[in-house]
Amino acid sequence: MRSLSITKLYLLFMWILFSLPIMGQSTSSLPPPVQLTAEQDHKRLMNLLGITSIRRGPDGNPQSPNAANFDETKANPYPNLPDPLVLKNGKKITTAKQWWTQRRPEIVEDFDKEIYGRVPAHTPKVRWEIVQTKIDTIGKILALTKKLIGHVDNSDYPLISVNIDLTVTTPVNAPSPVPLLMEFSFVFPPGFRPPAPAGPPAPSWQQQVLEKGWGYAILIPTSVQADKGDSLTRGIIGLVNKGQPRKVDDWGALRAWAWGASRALDYLQTDPAVDAKQVGIEGLSRYGKAALVTMAYDSRFAIAFVGSSGEGGAKLHRRMYGEQVENVASSGEYHWMAGNFIKYAGPLTPKDLPIDSHELVALCAPRPVFVGSGSLQVEGGWVDAKGMFLGAAYAGSVYKLVGKKDLGTTEFPPIETALLSGDIAFRQHSGGHTNGPNWPTFISFAERYLKTNSKPTQK
Ligand code: GCU
Repeated sequence: MRSLSITKLYLLFMWILFSLPIMGQSTSSLPPPVQLTAEQDHKRLMNLLGITSIRRGPDGNPQSPNAANFDETKANPYPNLPDPLVLKNGKKITTAKQWWTQRRPEIVEDFDKEIYGRVPAHTPKVRWEIVQTKIDTIGKILALTKKLIGHVDNSDYPLISVNIDLTVTTPVNAPSPVPLLMEFSFVFPPGFRPPAPAGPPAPSWQQQVLEKGWGYAILIPTSVQADKGDSLTRGIIGLVNKGQPRKVDDWGALRAWAWGASRALDYLQTDPAVDAKQVGIEGLSRYGKAALVTMAYDSRFAIAFVGSSGEGGAKLHRRMYGEQVENVASSGEYHWMAGNFIKYAGPLTPKDLPIDSHELVALCAPRPVFVGSGSLQVEGGWVDAKGMFLGAAYAGSVYKLVGKKDLGTTEFPPIETALLSGDIAFRQHSGGHTNGPNWPTFISFAERYLKTNSKPTQK
């Protein structure tokens, strides 16, 4: 008996002795992540696509000789939008069933292949860990904040670690699980203070949300995938590709960020404080694009607030006003998209896209979507408020087909006129590049859908 266990111990010792170097070797023999600058990677994709040059995007500065167009009479060079209700074979669809089984899959495939790229069939598991909890008073509401890390399983390629940064805040003592809004948040450099909003001080959006009895979550997209073309061989995209560069239809950062939001929602489904059937997603600018992509692809999200999303978001690609396909296809921004998207900056043009952004909004049907923007004077025309409005408006035929209400008009409304009568909503506030002034309007829209039976505990 005794000699047997000594033998066992000996064998265990020998196994450890021999496997340690092998384990070490297996990691060190893995090829390290490929290092490319954004320009090199962009060029590599152009080579794969057989493209030698692309058109340069216009400049945001109206004084530049290459200024973007801000003249409404020149904004519509490609007036024919793809019809979300016409199949690729030319047949019109007339039933919700045809939408779900035939046309919607066609549109998803086009967005996957040509615009945002494909999420790999197998992505690693995420293990969520609560690393800190604290109770604060926000406004007058007592709220519990949990700081979490989503550890992405990197056992297939240990040279890359991805740890997703999420915080979840819910009112304390709510009698039942609460609706929650998740924001894709910017991380500003230390010491940077975003410009104070004009007008009287308003409660933060977080406070406004808590006062409704809802919770909120902050997801840091760059903890999933860095916002740079030189980092596509790292982050979640690099991890799945084991440090190798992307194929032309691989996912870009927008889908990677959306994937992160979906993993955060997986966590929320396990959090007893949250009603995971009532979780919304919100973002501004590049994260407005990400919010719309999240909503379009993950039907578990109940509502979206898509702010100043511009090109690559709700703005029609075919609108020649403000930022253009060429800007996003350039080496500064292509990493948001699939490599294939670069083709549409040359030799192809936006009119060759098999789909347009109204069909991305349509993918969200029947769930409610709020599209927002700032003012032309303060925010500027770069994001193209009217282009985003039209993206929302032309999604209407799909909403109606599935029994919901469209925006109610295709006429661009005067500033600060909220269009809230349907399941697609729009408002242009009179401030700058921020969602701030649209929060109260978004919340009143969202209240029609998000239900809670609890009033938060006031201090
Ligand atoms: C640039 C870019 C936009 C983007 C914005 C942002 O202006 O052209 O597409 O939305 O940056 O995210 O701040």
